[in-house]
Amino acid sequence: MSITLPDELKFIQNGLSPQKESKTSLHNKVCVITGTTSGIGYVTSHRLALYGAHLVMIVRNREKGEKVRNEIIEKYHTKCDLLIADFSRFEDVHSVAKEINSTYKKIDILILNAGTFLQRKTFTNIGIEASFHINHLSPFLLISLLREKLIASSPSRVLTINSEGHRFSTLHIDDLGWKKHLYTGLKGYGAAKTAQLLTMQKFAIGFEGTGVTINSMHPGEVKSNIGNENSLLYRLYSKYLLSLFLKNPEISAKAIHYLVADEEVSGVSGKFFNLTIEEKPAKHATDPILMEKVWNKSIELTHL
Ligand SMILES: NC(=O)c1ccc[n+]([C@@H]2O[C@H](COP(=O)([O-])OP(=O)(O)OC[C@H]3O[C@@H](n4cnc5c(N)ncnc54)[C@H](OP(=O)(O)O)[C@@H]3O)[C@@H](O)[C@H]2O)c1
Repeated sequence: MSITLPDELKFIQNGLSPQKESKTSLHNKVCVITGTTSGIGYVTSHRLALYGAHLVMIVRNREKGEKVRNEIIEKYHTKCDLLIADFSRFEDVHSVAKEINSTYKKIDILILNAGTFLQRKTFTNIGIEASFHINHLSPFLLISLLREKLIASSPSRVLTINSEGHRFSTLHIDDLGWKKHLYTGLKGYGAAKTAQLLTMQKFAIGFEGTGVTINSMHPGEVKSNIGNENSLLYRLYSKYLLSLFLKNPEISAKAIHYLVADEEVSGVSGKFFNLTIEEKPAKHATDPILMEKVWNKSIELTHL
């Protein structure tokens, strides 16, 4: 007997369904990807290099980044460049965007993967709640600063690594500092991912007719270092309990490769995927009024 789940719960079924895979070559494709020093970004950078991509990796830790770059060059003999940016600092995002715009003739693929899960309410040095700043505002700023280059490089694809976690919290646009609402790690994370999902859809409208596509995806529930910036208790819980239920991030890398390269996805834009399956986001993450508000707020906060 097959059960039809309501839209809100289809993500459970989709996560368990067979996924698509691509063998598309990435030879001569310039692929900018953030957060390749661990977890999903690390495994994805290996997969993209295996398929021939010229990687431009943006990481916050130079030492870790150089280790990954050396591994990739040695293993795949592909081009692999390293840029340094901490996504809690807009000045770093400006600096890497400037370098990319002046160094590379084109960007074929842009993957916004770097992200964090913060159990405790934390603020960046300019007073923005850190999960919102790192998971949403900095990727928003980077896409905006690379917009013209992406258009000049078209057909090109942008993919934001979002999360089913967006379903667990809406966005309090007038309380981004969580003064009036109780902050929890899940709520802060969910709000930031909701903001990213809403603005992705608005970016897609702006890219219409340019040959640039933009989509978001949930990369599965996989083993990574996410949450490692939290308390010892959380890290122990994550390492010894949570990780028992998590999959290998290779499934995320395969899905990302499919979404950024496969012919089947060419021309598809403004969509959310659970791994490789297109899915309806939560209702609050498609709300046109909230979309407009978060877009304007993101422009204001990033001083675009
Ligand atoms: N794992 C999952 O099950 C899961 C599920 C849904 C969505 N996601 C999303 O997948 C993406 C990758 O996460 P992951 O699970 O692979 O976690 P991860 O292993 O912790 O990797 C996160 C990457 O982001 C980088 N990063 C963190 N904060 C940064 C900052 N302030 N500036 C620049 N880079 C920063 C990390 O750098 P360092 O190495 O220097 O820390 C690392 O390279 C995230 O967007 C996450 O929200 C993951």
